[in-house]
Amino acid sequence: MWRPPERIRHAASQGRIPARADAQLSRLFSPVRVGPLALEQRTWVPAMVPWRATEDGFVTDDVIAWYARFARGRPGAIVVEATGIRDIASGPLLRIGHDRYVPGLRRLADTVRAESAGHTRLFIQIIDFLAIRRRPDPVKFFEHFLAITDRHRAAFPGQSDPAVRQALRGLSADALTRVLAPAELEALQFGYRERVTDLHLPHIRELPAVLPDLFAAAARRAHAAGFDGAELHYAHAYTMASFLSRTNTRTDGYGGARASRVRLPLEVFRAVRAGVPSSFAVGCRYLAGECIAGGSEADDAAYFGTQFAQAGMDFISTSRGGKFDDARQPAIGAAAYPYTGPSGYECMPQYISDARGPFGRNAAPTAAIRAAIRNAGHETPVVCTGGIHNFEMAEKLLQDGVCDIIGAARQSLADPDWFRKILLGRGAEVRTCEYTNYCEGLDQKHKPVTCQLWDKDGLARPGVTRTADGKRRLTAPEWSAPAD
Ligand SMILES: Cc1cc2nc3c(=O)[nH]c(=O)nc-3n(C[C@H](O)[C@H](O)[C@H](O)COP(=O)(O)O)c2cc1C
Ligand code: SF4
Repeated sequence: MWRPPERIRHAASQGRIPARADAQLSRLFSPVRVGPLALEQRTWVPAMVPWRATEDGFVTDDVIAWYARFARGRPGAIVVEATGIRDIASGPLLRIGHDRYVPGLRRLADTVRAESAGHTRLFIQIIDFLAIRRRPDPVKFFEHFLAITDRHRAAFPGQSDPAVRQALRGLSADALTRVLAPAELEALQFGYRERVTDLHLPHIRELPAVLPDLFAAAARRAHAAGFDGAELHYAHAYTMASFLSRTNTRTDGYGGARASRVRLPLEVFRAVRAGVPSSFAVGCRYLAGECIAGGSEADDAAYFGTQFAQAGMDFISTSRGGKFDDARQPAIGAAAYPYTGPSGYECMPQYISDARGPFGRNAAPTAAIRAAIRNAGHETPVVCTGGIHNFEMAEKLLQDGVCDIIGAARQSLADPDWFRKILLGRGAEVRTCEYTNYCEGLDQKHKPVTCQLWDKDGLARPGVTRTADGKRRLTAPEWSAPAD
């Protein structure tokens, strides 16, 4: 992962630990409404893909165990990982693109309800993404993948196409930048990647026609499976975020000006909302900042937030960065990963950082979005996530009006009981995340995600489920909470 050149080390700490009575009176542990739902507390476990689904997208026992473990910490809400709305091969990523996925997801929703003793509300993040291929072997690229065009032929006049392929193979990197079209060069150096601006491809042109129904069907299945709500994934490197991006130059009314870029996200929301009962919450996660050259800025994010609130979303959750645009070049045979460049750092900042550090980088941009929403007269709750890891910090963000709900991904992975420990006056027992991004490294390799602070603990104990190589436990050790 890219890291800021300053290389300043930052240490997370437990901060001020409140006594039980103080915790109970805090804003963090006060209830909040999310549209039709009442959250018991303002704590939220954001979506995290743990790579535990089957190769064809079904819920497994390991998926159940992963969410059951978070549920025992009784946060206000858990958002189930990015789950694909299409019924297409996508590796061990959960899917919700067909009714056959509903029984497994129902088992998941039932488990969270039971394990949290009904205290936690459950959302599912629903996602669409475009095709991305692995970086090709250059020999194969020139021999098979590259379609020879007049541009290539012009560089080697009078030669047959096989000879042109051969000649291209022998060119220097510099010469290739002149002979190949930019998209071909990218396909060679990074692997082919579709973009929402590829209007020459019929299925990309038709995205505005097909996505509202696909998202709506997915949300209907989530409701049928017993989820309390859906989070539309409008963040990071995926289709909907690409529509919102300033880099979206589509000329069909769905790109260019802000109002056109937000058009499809609003149409998707309206289709989803129309297809589920009003008791089912619908909101989205989007970027408070894209953090790439030429990407959307704070004023775009504020505008989108007010548009989403105005349209009637039940919540807005912010993230930042996580784009393909500045991702590191993958090794041959691997696919580009959107969390390897500077924008990836902004999404999951690590303890080696710049002077600002990894904690709360998303706070000021989120506060600006919330202020714009409030100025427009809407009370939509806003979830802020990014490096939040102790009570003092969480409570200050709430008191300062940065957000209404505290999202904590890696801190909840490090200690799924952390909210509960604090609420019960046992905050000194919290295992604090060190923001090393060991977990994110596993995610990048599509390996089962675990935390280095606990994945070697009690490996030999009976009942501990382990990774296939037996070297890591799959869920955090249990904490014996005092009786209620
Ligand atoms: C292993 C892992 C998987 C993640 N998967 C998702 C995901 O499916 N959807 C999403 O919106 N964000 C995902 N994220 C980003 C987190 O939700 C969160 O925004 C990010 O980690 C920063 O918050 P934190 O500092 O509290 O960890 C993931 C993060 C990690 C570490
Ligand atoms: S591995 Fe654990 S300690 Fe390290 S960043 Fe991930 S959650 Fe935090």
